[in-house]
Formats: sequence, structure tokens, C-alpha cells
Amino acid sequence: MKYGYFDDRNREYVITQPDTPLPWINYLGCQAYFGIISNTAGGYSFYRDARLRRLTRYRYNNAPFDLGGRYVYLRDTESGQFWSPSWQPTRREFENYSCRHGMGYTVISSTANGIEAHTRYFVPLDENLEVWQLTVTNRRQTKARISAFSSIEFCLWDAQDDATNFQRNFSTGQVEVEEGVIYHKTEYRERRDHFAYFACSEPLAGFDTQRDAFLGRYRGWDSPAAVEAGQLTNSIAHGWAPIGAHQVTLDLKPGETRQIVFLLGYHENPVNQKFDPPGSQTINKALVKPTIAKYLDPLEADAAFERLRQYWDGLLGIFQVNTPDIHTNRMVNIWNAYQCMATFNMSRSASFYESGIGRGLGFRDSNQDLLGFVHMAPARARERILDLAATQLPTGGAYHQYQPLTKRGNNDIGGGFNDDPHWLIVGVAAYLKETGDWGILDEPVPFENEPGSEQPLYEHLRRSFQYTLDRLGPHGLPLIGRADWNDCLNLNCFSDTPGQSFQTTTSKDGKVAESVFIAGLFVLAAKELAAIAARRNLNADAKQCLAEAAKMARVVYEHGWDGEWFVRAYDDFGKPIGSKVCDEGKIFIESQGICIMAGIGLQDGKASQALESVNKHLATRHGIVLQQPAYSKYYLHLGEISSYPPGYKENAGIFCHNNPWIIIAETMVGNGDRAFDYYTRINPSAREKIGHLHRCEPYVFAQMIAGKDAPTHGEAKNSWLTGTAAWTYYAATQWIMGIRAEYDGLRIDPVIPAKWKGFTVTRRFRGNTYLIEVKNPKGKQRGVKRLLVDGKDIATNLLPVCPSPPEPIQVEAVLEG
Ligand code: GLC
Ligand code: GLC
Repeated sequence: MKYGYFDDRNREYVITQPDTPLPWINYLGCQAYFGIISNTAGGYSFYRDARLRRLTRYRYNNAPFDLGGRYVYLRDTESGQFWSPSWQPTRREFENYSCRHGMGYTVISSTANGIEAHTRYFVPLDENLEVWQLTVTNRRQTKARISAFSSIEFCLWDAQDDATNFQRNFSTGQVEVEEGVIYHKTEYRERRDHFAYFACSEPLAGFDTQRDAFLGRYRGWDSPAAVEAGQLTNSIAHGWAPIGAHQVTLDLKPGETRQIVFLLGYHENPVNQKFDPPGSQTINKALVKPTIAKYLDPLEADAAFERLRQYWDGLLGIFQVNTPDIHTNRMVNIWNAYQCMATFNMSRSASFYESGIGRGLGFRDSNQDLLGFVHMAPARARERILDLAATQLPTGGAYHQYQPLTKRGNNDIGGGFNDDPHWLIVGVAAYLKETGDWGILDEPVPFENEPGSEQPLYEHLRRSFQYTLDRLGPHGLPLIGRADWNDCLNLNCFSDTPGQSFQTTTSKDGKVAESVFIAGLFVLAAKELAAIAARRNLNADAKQCLAEAAKMARVVYEHGWDGEWFVRAYDDFGKPIGSKVCDEGKIFIESQGICIMAGIGLQDGKASQALESVNKHLATRHGIVLQQPAYSKYYLHLGEISSYPPGYKENAGIFCHNNPWIIIAETMVGNGDRAFDYYTRINPSAREKIGHLHRCEPYVFAQMIAGKDAPTHGEAKNSWLTGTAAWTYYAATQWIMGIRAEYDGLRIDPVIPAKWKGFTVTRRFRGNTYLIEVKNPKGKQRGVKRLLVDGKDIATNLLPVCPSPPEPIQVEAVLEG
């Protein structure tokens, strides 16, 4: 069953039924001001940091699910009936409803009682505000008198404190109302230089800023007393819960349309210009007023929306494909690329499943996210890399996370996740391949943000590499530390106390448990570092990296090969995990994916054999599960992985993030049919038709799909903020389509289903535009031997970097097997 449809031409997903199985969300904003918005206008906004600069309040895990948002109410003056055109929170019956989630905007439309309403929500580029453009049309035969109300609930900035510290917070709230603009200034009197504002383009019939005055006693957002009465009360909040609500009266002739613009924004004043007049306690509004005036003008709002559209045209235009598969096309051309930008902006902080309170930017997560967006936003990728590297420790280790507002490592989580450092090499390698900006390696970057400790970025990569060599275990494999990529395989934790964090509890000295996964990642990263060093003529470094990579690969052969697949790890007792000798968890996906991506086993058939084992033991029709057999009970020495019921999350769920590792591995052994088949199994667009089972948004990847051991096999969870976005994008574009950025140019090496007759790609790369046509007349899966570039045969499948010609470069590639 479907709950909507793709409108690919407009790059929108159109939801046609408001009660989707879960709130289906979208993101507003792409630079500093952000929001999440659901298909019923639920969600919240923040400036840069979802925890520390939360603008509006949201109640997670509510019943019904999705409450707190950007709600509008319409009230018919004559009948007294009122409703929200976004369906929530009033949930009245509609004559029609649609929600169009597009690139950085959402339009929610409905008709009720003959009154049609559209609300377009978006964040203009380069501004710290969001625009709601509400248009109301009278579809009745008679004239209508309608009151329109806006509403938002302010959060008192720190979302965590806001949800817990009531003894203080009920007494701090403050607002000002001036010329119809509601200014939220809680704590502005003391240490904050920032405030929020909520403005309306039309003359007001009333406003409210105190929640109780608006809602009334014992009422919720579904039946605000002031809306029901048809008159806001002009309340001024002192403490309690400051809100913003405007009332506008519309007299509409039959067929008449009126537009109201609402703005919700954030502004910071210079410390010495906070108050006007100076010495008073009144907000200085002089600096923000021009911005408010500008966007309250509907023509300016329209122009800003047009600029946003062009911005996305530009970003998405960098890589466009036309393959025989519509699901591939729309994910690569639109939604997967868009999701990659969301994961870049949000990391794992704010989604319907991430509260925006819990996590900062993950070190490994953000480095992997780079793979998916670096071609769209190279300058911002550069900045992100330098920020991440600046939190690295002098030992080469890394803080697991940092807060975007302070850009400092989070002490409460600390470091010791022994795979983290290598992801920096992977991220930098991706950046160099895309941009050729070798200068980044010379950028001075501190350790632990300590001024004076700066070393060139290249030295950070060297320390990442050395970090593992300094931490080898009894078999010569890397010690796992707190956990490697799989945060739930906690081999040094041994936690038996409820509520302890599996991530930070360590009861063992960490000198025994080893990770084959990190071994594979080390080999992969060391080869990249060797390639980087070689291109900088650091030949001794390059040699050392290759030698250590080869040595580690031998250790993997010796202690990490189980006969039919790669072992996953060794536990604190020195016993293997992910081996046929285990009772449960005999085979894991991660070590198969990473070792093959690192090139281990490609020469002697072990890679193919491991992939056969994956196919046999782990593949399901909904994707590839993380391990088998699932852990049926809690194992003290394995940790969180065995805390989940079988089939969920890391305990044999389809953890989509590493499905693309297997997809890439399949392309590396030349199996295009299988790579594409695996890709399709988790492709949300291809799963749209089973929406009742999948339940999450059909336009973005989810972190997890319940595995075959779960009663809900096929049900997705944790959509949007997942490494799956970057990895599937990377797997589809660079490995299946095979349009691959390399240090010295663009490789054209597709590994596709035999039944594809060909496909075309437009790719902008290092200043050039390539129009690439791949032909597959003989039904092969791989094998471009030559390229025709503007009609000339160049006898290689690598497009060298060349000065930008004014015209696009025509490239033709023929698969010959
Ligand atoms: C989550 C984490 C990521 C981890 C993965 C597997 O997605 O963000 O860091 O690698 O889970 O446990
Ligand atoms: C939990 C999740 C895992 C995530 C980790 C980090 O352990 O299962 O996916 O990476 O939390 O917060």
C-alpha cells in the first residue's frame, strides 16, 4: 500500500493521506538555520545546534506521535468551526489533503468547509529565518469570513534543560511585542545575545504569547480556547510558557485568494548593542527589522523561494543519471543526494528518531557522510574535515563526537573507539579525489583544539595510521577499544548494571579483544594514505603504509579467515566472534564488506567465497542482515548487540549502512546483477509499494529494516540520519554506475545488471562537464576497455584531469566484458 507518489519532475514526494504510518518528515534549511517538518506540520526549528539553540518546543514520543509544530488554524466566523489545514493537531475531516515535501521546503494543502489553504514552509538561503506562506482561497459560492491563526511554542533555548528544569524555567520566560512582531527574549537580560521573533505580514486582530491564555486550562493544541472563542487575548508572557500566535481576519469573496506571510527567525545582536535605548532592558531591534520587513513582502518571499530552487538545481545537477531503472534514477538524481546533504548538515542530531539532544557530530559518522556530499559542497567538506581533525588527540585517537556550536570534542563520551581515526583518512581521500585540492594536507590543524599544537593535516593522517600500529592485540590484529564501527559490539564492557551506557562502560583493560573489521579498515586506509603520500613524493611513507597494509592483510588471512568467510573479532577471552565455532553470531556482514573493499581476498577467490556466504546466510528479500544466527540472549562479554531482541538493530537487523559495503564488494568481483539486486532490496523508492510494512518515508533510506528473526521483518526504522545515505549513494554512483572520482581523474568502470542496455550520466568534475554514455550491447556486467572522448579513443577507462573546455565533453564507453 502507498500513501502518496513521487513527482520526479518537481523533485517532490506527494503524500496524499495525512495519517501515514509514522510522521514522514522533511528538512528546512541548509546552512545555519534548520528545522524538521512532518507531513502534518509537526516538528521544530533551531539555529546550528539542535540542543543548545532550540527555537521551538517539540514533545517527542508523544501520543499521538507527532505533536508540536508550525500550526495554523482557520476559523469560520459564522459557524464557529475551526480546523488546522495541516490536519494535525485538530484532525478534522478534509475534502482533500496533500503534503509536498521538496528540496528544502514543504507545502501542505487541504480543503475543508470549502476553504482551500496552502502553506509553504522554507528557509531562504543565507538567512536565519523560516517563511510560512499561507494562501487561503474561498471555494464557496458565498462570501466567507475567516480568522487565520498562527502558533508556535518557544523553547527556552537549551532543549535538554527546557524539558527538565521546570522549577527555574517556569519563571524565566520573557517576550516583547512591537508592531505585531512577537520577540522571544528569555535569558536575553543576562548572558544571551540572541532572541527569536515571529512576525506576520497582515494587520493583527489579536495575538497571544502566554500558552495558557491561548490554549485555556486543561486543553491541548487540538482545541485552543482562544481559537475556539475566535479572539486572541493579547497576552504577554511572564514566566511559564511563552508562545507566539497571531490572528488575522480575512473577508473572502467567492473565489478570492489572500496570502499571509509569517516569519519565524533567530537573531544575534553585538554584545554592546543589545538594548535600545542603551541601558534599558528593551531588545535593540534596529538590526533585524530590515530583514523582517523584507521577507514579509510576498514578492521577496517568492524570490527567495526561487533562489532556493536554483540552489538545489545547481547541487543536484552535478550528478544526473538516466538508467533503465526509475528507482535508481530518482534516488540518485533527487532523494539520495538530498539525504546526503541532510546527513552532512545534521549528522545524527535531529530527526524523528534522534532527539537533537543526545548526540553531537560523530567523528566516524561525519567522515563517512563526506562520501555522499563532497561533490556537491566541496568547500564545506573541507571545513568539516578541518573541524574534525582539530578534535583529534595527539595519540592519533579521536573524540567520538563534537558539538557543532563549540566545535569541541565531547568529554562525556570521550574517545577510544579504535576505528575512528581511520575514517579521517577515508574522508580526506574522498575529498582529494573529488577536488584535487592537495593544499588541504598542508593546513595547520591543532590537536584537541589546543592552540599551539598545530601540525599539517597530513601529520594527522599519519597519526591515525600509527594509532592502530600502537594498539595491536595478541593475534596482531587491531585492539577494538570501546567498539569499532559496530557500536554495539562492546567487548571490553561486561556491563551487568541497568542503565549503564554500553558506549562508555569499560570493565576490561582492553588488551585482548581484537577487531578484524578494524584490520580491514586499516588496510583500506593505509592503501589510501600510501597513494596520497606517493603523490606528494613521500616515498618512504608510501612504502611503509603499503608494507604495513600487506602485513595486516597477512594477519587477516591467518587469524581472520574462517574457511568460508572473514571472522568478525576476538573477544576478551581470545575466542573468535563471527566464526563457525560460535553458537550464535557465526557470520557477520561488516568484516566481509570491509575486507573485500580493502582488496583482501580479491586475488585468490576468498572474496567471492565470502560473498557467497553472505548470500547464503545473511541475504533476505528486504536486505542483508548484520549477522546470523541472531543472539537469543544477553551475553555479558558481547554487550549491547545482544541486548536487542533478535532481528532488531545490530542484533541481526538489516542495518542498511553496511549493505552498500557488500554491494561495492560485489562490483569489485564483477557481479553487477547481484550488486544491483542488493541495492534494490533496500532502495526506499522500490519499497514504496510495501509502505504499510516498510512504514518509514519511501523517499529516504532508513538506518534499519527489521531482520528475518523479527516478527516485523521488513519494517524500517530510524529514517534519514544514517550512514546508509552516503554509502548507498557512493555505491550506486561510483561502483554500480562506476563513475568514480580518483586521484588522477574520473574512472569509468560500471558494473551493472546484464539486462541494462546502457545508461547516461552527466557529471561535473574538477571544472568540466562530462556527458557520458555507457553502452552495453552484448549484455555484459562489466568491462570498459576504451573510452571515446569527443570521438577519440583514449585507450584507458580513466578520464584524465584536463583544463576546462567551454563545451561539455562527450564520453562514450562500451562494455565488452
Ligand atoms: C549508528 C552510529 C554509527 C555506528 C552504527 C553501528 O549508526 O551512528 O556510528 O557505526 O550505528 O553501530
Ligand atoms: C546504540 C545504537 C547504535 C548507535 C549507538 C550510538 O547503541 O544501537 O546504532 O550507534 O547507540 O549512540
